[in-house]
Amino acid sequence: MEIADSTQAIETLLEEGRRFQPSADFAAQANAQAGIYEEADRDVEAFWEKWARTLEWSKPFTKVLDWKEPFARWFYDGELNVSVNCLDRHVRADRGNRIAYYYEGEQGDRQSITYKELLGEVCVFANGLRKLGLKRGDRVAIYMGMIPQLPVAMLACTRIGVVHSVIFGGFSPDSIVDRVNDARCVAVITADFARRRGGTVPLKHNVDVALAQTPSVKHCIVAKRVGDPIEMKPGRDLWWEDVVRGQSATCEPESMNAEDLLYLLYTSGTTAKPKGIKHTTGGYLVYAAMTHKLVFDLKDDTDVYWCSADIGWVTGHSYIVYGPLANCATSVIYEGTPDYPDKDRLWEIIERYKVTILYTAPTAIRTFMKWGAQYPQAHDLSSLRLLGTVGEPINPEAWIWYREHIGGGRTPVVDTWWQTETGGIMISPLPGITTLMPGSATYPIPGTYADVVNDKGESVPPGGGGYLVLTKPWPGMLRGIWGDDERYVETYWKRFPHKYFAGDGCRRDHDGNYWLMGRVDDVMNVSGHRISTTEVESALVGNPKVAEAAVCGKLDDITGQAIYAFVTLRGGQNGSEALANELREFVADKLGKFTRPKYITFTPELPKTRSGKIMRRLLRDVAEGRALGDVTTLADSAIVKDLEERAKTEIAQEE
Ligand code: WTA
Repeated sequence: MEIADSTQAIETLLEEGRRFQPSADFAAQANAQAGIYEEADRDVEAFWEKWARTLEWSKPFTKVLDWKEPFARWFYDGELNVSVNCLDRHVRADRGNRIAYYYEGEQGDRQSITYKELLGEVCVFANGLRKLGLKRGDRVAIYMGMIPQLPVAMLACTRIGVVHSVIFGGFSPDSIVDRVNDARCVAVITADFARRRGGTVPLKHNVDVALAQTPSVKHCIVAKRVGDPIEMKPGRDLWWEDVVRGQSATCEPESMNAEDLLYLLYTSGTTAKPKGIKHTTGGYLVYAAMTHKLVFDLKDDTDVYWCSADIGWVTGHSYIVYGPLANCATSVIYEGTPDYPDKDRLWEIIERYKVTILYTAPTAIRTFMKWGAQYPQAHDLSSLRLLGTVGEPINPEAWIWYREHIGGGRTPVVDTWWQTETGGIMISPLPGITTLMPGSATYPIPGTYADVVNDKGESVPPGGGGYLVLTKPWPGMLRGIWGDDERYVETYWKRFPHKYFAGDGCRRDHDGNYWLMGRVDDVMNVSGHRISTTEVESALVGNPKVAEAAVCGKLDDITGQAIYAFVTLRGGQNGSEALANELREFVADKLGKFTRPKYITFTPELPKTRSGKIMRRLLRDVAEGRALGDVTTLADSAIVKDLEERAKTEIAQEE
């Protein structure tokens, strides 16, 4: 574990002296007011109970928390339905004509979908799923692009108690196989194609390849997005329009226990096998709704909110679907990429819908900086009143650029730290209260508790760095890993007794602000995507030409980290640019395009200790072009000199 690597960067960060206090106007109208932290500290269970009561329960809960470390149950004798909370209760409250989603297709096709319409579509589809025999507790995989049917499918699952497992549309067939088989999904919901940057992604074809190896799947439901011909397998494949034909627009919701499984979402760990993170019904929804309301200061009747993430990641689950809909927000969903047809697409969308709140990723912001301020300047962005970021540490320059060029120098910027596992935002400013610091996510939101500890698990005094841990259960926390309680305990609860180990390095300054330093385990963060080094290594060694591979992250100005692979070939093979490209495609095919290594260096041997362990720390030094650390344990030190030379050439070539 490498705390030292980032220390220098953090020293620089801690000198960051710029401070932004909430303006008096913003503070006066904010949802979160002073005293909220103290309120939570006085009685944290009472605090969460109050938030939970803002939802509609078909059977009100009488219990708040059962904590048998590390297993939590929240509101566990209560029952509710997520789709009812996200849709029916707003329609009943006379808000059915409010826009739930402004949908913007990549080709410029547009739809406004009201809460009433969304409820109708969800019910019709849920009835169709029921007719196919899907029932409470079944697992269904969803593999789609950003089209309106995606949230409809998720909500329809929640209506009938089916557990969804959304698989990001950028994943490859192999990744679909692993996820579908792990959860033994009985159905897959997909689309013919996805539209992306003027082209198409063959979603149904990818599913066809995967389904040859997934015996549990009985049905495949296909929404039509593009309309080009695809194969449909009789008896298994059904068009969405045939599933919904003739179905009623009312659908009796299942009354779910608060602790019934709501969804699985797979995320990369430190092994090659992704973890199926479990989120349950009551606590998750309470947490998503509360954080969305407070961190984004959402005013449901005036704000137009836009989270530009993909629904296939947790950010989209919590902050495009569940949080915003539970809060009756009006949101934007955009199908495509920010540079299609031109680099001002996001700003054009903000101007068109008068977006007031924008939530995006540091990697996107750094890309916009590179493209230049002329793109946002060409549009009226004066509707914006709040900006947010998520996914990786944001460097102060990007933070300042975002506030200046997108936020007109007026808007607060909330840097939100959280994970798939946490269900929602954990460390973040509250925009009407917190003094903002570019580069710091500030401190834990009310009702959540964190610490920074050293190797021994002792709290590090102010000014020091160590490992980020979370010290009390919270309603949105994961309830475990699907089918693997042992791995859950092992990954998150073993390293430091009684503390949740997040896997992030962190420093805390003298005012108690948290400065996140990135992962301290074998997980890379590339454009905000979590990718395990082991997964990429095992993909590489799956190629018959590869003998051995070691992968690490290399700092990158745009994507945060880029993937660096050191590869030893089998006898008789020579490294070449053509072979490097072949391996890049090979990894992309195995795992998904976003996991393609940027750098590949061929080497006759990897640096190893005398006991035969690959010296990863050394490879990271080589990748970063840093002075090499301790090499005394190395079996053959000549290898490293040679490797440094090769790496220099490769880096020069790719940059
Ligand atoms: C990183 C995304 C610094 C972190 C919601 C975490 C961040 C991982 C931030 C989770 C932030 C996320 N500052 N680092 N504001 N937000 N991270 O599961 O390393 O895709 O552990 O969830 O992203 O990634 P995940």
